[in-house]
Amino acid sequence: MADNRERFYITTPIYYPSANLHIGHSYTTVAADALARYHRFRGHDTWFLTGTDEHGLKIERKAASVDKTPQDYVDGIVAGIQRLWSALRISYDDFIRTTEPRHERVVQQIFQQLFNQGDIYKAEYEGWYCVGCEAFYTETQVKEWPDKKCPDHDKPVEWVKEESYFFRLSKYAGRLLAHIEANPDFIQPPSRRNEIVSFIKQGLEDLCVSRTTFTWGIPVPFDPKHVIYVWVDALSNYITAIGYDQNGEGEHGPLWERFWPADVHLIGKDILRFHAIIWPILLMALNLPLPKKVFGHGWVLLQSGKMSKTRGNVVDPLELVAKYGVDPIRYYLLREVPFGQDGVYSEEALVLRTNVDLANDLGNLLSRTTQMVDKFAGGEVPALPAADDDGILRDLAGEVVAEYEAALDRLDLPNALAAIWRLVNRANKYIDETAPWNLAKAPAGDSGRNRLAAVLYNLVESLRLSAVLLVPFLVETPGRIWAQLGLPGEVRSSDYGAAVGWGGTPAGTRIARGQPLFPRIDLKAGEAAAASEPAPAPTPARAEHGAEEGVVELISIDDFAKVQLRVAEIVSAEKVEKADKLLKLQVRLGEETRQIVSGIAQHYTPESLVGKRIVVVANLKPVKLRGIESAGMLLAASNEDGLTLVTTDRPIVSGSKVK
Ligand code: MSP
Repeated sequence: MADNRERFYITTPIYYPSANLHIGHSYTTVAADALARYHRFRGHDTWFLTGTDEHGLKIERKAASVDKTPQDYVDGIVAGIQRLWSALRISYDDFIRTTEPRHERVVQQIFQQLFNQGDIYKAEYEGWYCVGCEAFYTETQVKEWPDKKCPDHDKPVEWVKEESYFFRLSKYAGRLLAHIEANPDFIQPPSRRNEIVSFIKQGLEDLCVSRTTFTWGIPVPFDPKHVIYVWVDALSNYITAIGYDQNGEGEHGPLWERFWPADVHLIGKDILRFHAIIWPILLMALNLPLPKKVFGHGWVLLQSGKMSKTRGNVVDPLELVAKYGVDPIRYYLLREVPFGQDGVYSEEALVLRTNVDLANDLGNLLSRTTQMVDKFAGGEVPALPAADDDGILRDLAGEVVAEYEAALDRLDLPNALAAIWRLVNRANKYIDETAPWNLAKAPAGDSGRNRLAAVLYNLVESLRLSAVLLVPFLVETPGRIWAQLGLPGEVRSSDYGAAVGWGGTPAGTRIARGQPLFPRIDLKAGEAAAASEPAPAPTPARAEHGAEEGVVELISIDDFAKVQLRVAEIVSAEKVEKADKLLKLQVRLGEETRQIVSGIAQHYTPESLVGKRIVVVANLKPVKLRGIESAGMLLAASNEDGLTLVTTDRPIVSGSKVK
């Protein structure tokens, strides 16, 4: 059957696996992921490509410095990159590595074709070369005469003289300018397009596209002492990965027809020239259509300036995910940096965004609403009495959806999120204005009762719609909101068109109140409190599309026997002062009574615990938590929706062994 769905092909840059990636790289990838998720959710036939750019002198030297072959070296880093994407829940459809045969072979074919048709020729080359950028610079571009430094990396450039192959960029300059002018959307944002246009107008020189000074690259097929310039190699990934010229005879794989030309190449502004000049010219020379859009976003900076692997001041996103969870990080990156411009990263700002937008605005709206449905409507979402509806949230929702879609169409992720928060914040205000607790005082049959039903319905509906609109951005929260509202099925599998219409919550839906969506983080105390919580159940490193599963290390029965598990009866429990997550428990294990401090205060009241028979690790070294001794650890199961203590199925005397 013909697939007439709209198509969407989006790519990220392929990253250099010279060192682990940082929060800046994660930004590009999370943004591309949100766009891919949005298009999939809309039912478009979507392809999301990312990968790694593994050749070049920089990698060759880096590997040598740690006594590894380049391939061994990159294999290790790439595995780490894939783990990072998995932690950030990047839903890529394919991950291309430029060392894969499917890529190398086709790059050679491309080079050969361009040579055969005279667009690549051999000549002598001399110039200043920066290993960091893998690029030549002209005399005027290298800065700080007479020290000769790279304008980007601030590191010394090298004088390189070699016989090389050249690509006729100059020949296509006019055609490229005409294309840019005829397609104002091709290079975005507009300020960057203007830079590119004036650069081309200064005149393009032919590009040196081969190297003989190192070997870690794809050999020129007809002259193997040369390797192909790493940018020609790298840029080609966007077509090799979807099966361009699969057999060397011009026959393409099935993805090619579906997805070329790409809809968006999402890249950082530093690599815009490669994507807006070299890449389109390569495609023109190959007689292929150009990508529809190249979007150069701004950088994520630190207060102290640019973050870079070279400068060693990078922020590790894996640590942040472990500390704050995946959704706060994704939200922060996508909300905080104005799209297209630079933004400054700080942990304080991340915590603030989480506390204000996620915990306060969104989280409280959910807990207040579900609490009121519980209290004033017996836990069931009332039907909407049309006569008593004010239409305030419904009308706003219509505007918000339109604003959201328009923002996403222009890749403006922060404003799409801002649109959702207009609804969230208006709904919070609506609670204060309508004061449902007063409406609930009206006697049965009074019109106040109908008004209450309308208010509650509108609030639930605003939350349902927010969950829907959040699907592209957050990976856990929409499902949690959905579950607490008691809605059927999975929000992610909803039909987008129907789901964004008003009135999707069926009357009579039984809400299922749960844990707060986002506990507030105290930046200073946060780490201490988090450290004393029961260890959360490890979440398998899951990627919806393609990334590797986490590897589980197996232990022997002897390893397990080292852990002494015993049944304990809780004799008393009390809160720990100034630690809102901790409870101090006295537990009995047979004859012995022990004190255990545990981070379960947000899940159990002290009174509800007394008399419970739980399972504890009895041979754990005692530790002090907030200065209070804790001799053991209790077992609890937890996930994003909450925490439950492990208890015994039938009564059994305390102190009994568990194995
Ligand atoms: N390998 C090339 C890209 C080849 S694409 C055919 C490359 N790799 S990179 O690892 O150095 O950078 C990849 C991307 O990360 C670039 O888009 C770059 O702009 C982006 N970023 C690197 N540091 C960044 C920030 N601090 N902030 C935002 N993006 C950042 O270039």
